[in-house]
Amino acid sequence: MVAYANVSTLLLRNVPLFAMLQEHQLALLAGAVRRRSFPRGTAIIAAGDATDSLYIVISGRLKVLMSDEHGREVILSILGPGEFFGEMGLLDDSPRSASVVTLEACELLTISKTDFKLSLADNFELSLMVMRGLVKRLREADRKIGSLALMDVYGRVARLLLEMADDIDGEKIVVKKLSKQDIAKMIGASREMVSRVMKDLQLGGYIEVRGRSIALRDNILLAE
Ligand code: CMP
Repeated sequence: MVAYANVSTLLLRNVPLFAMLQEHQLALLAGAVRRRSFPRGTAIIAAGDATDSLYIVISGRLKVLMSDEHGREVILSILGPGEFFGEMGLLDDSPRSASVVTLEACELLTISKTDFKLSLADNFELSLMVMRGLVKRLREADRKIGSLALMDVYGRVARLLLEMADDIDGEKIVVKKLSKQDIAKMIGASREMVSRVMKDLQLGGYIEVRGRSIALRDNILLAE
């Protein structure tokens, strides 16, 4: 049996997608939303499946991927807290466009297709937030297509590290652990090539590996 936890309006208020809703709309939504935990490595959505729900990430990270019949994968995006997925199939009634798998233990909110569509019809701000999310995704996809077509593997690795970095005490630090295999799947290169490029970036003084995090030096912009 699947365990669902109750969802408070306070939790919903902290979800960017719902931040603009009024209290009575949040209260209605709280009755329609479910909260569930999933262990690492769980396939939440499989490409080609029929669509039924929208998902919102409360905690943890997930990868959005496509694979072929030989098991080769390309990672389209990494999603984290506050982001949502599964909206595409709900909006155009097509099967799932990609698979989504947890990279670590995750807590997700789910809302059914019917309730999501009712909420959208009821609230322009919510529709706007979904559109903004789609635009953000399109911008990221454009950047990715550009870097695949125009950059070598050094540039692609440098750009990915810059995108993943957080500003910590005046430094750009990549703290999220991503395997070299996953980096390779995100930039269309082999794991061996990614290892070589990371080593070269380290030797060249562009990055400094500190345990599980990577500090990026300002000159990494030159490697891009
Ligand atoms: P849907 O097609 O319903 O199911 C798979 C989901 O993956 C999709 O909705 C989006 O939410 C998400 N997705 C697909 N492509 C991308 C992408 N390029 N970047 C981020 N998320 C994506």
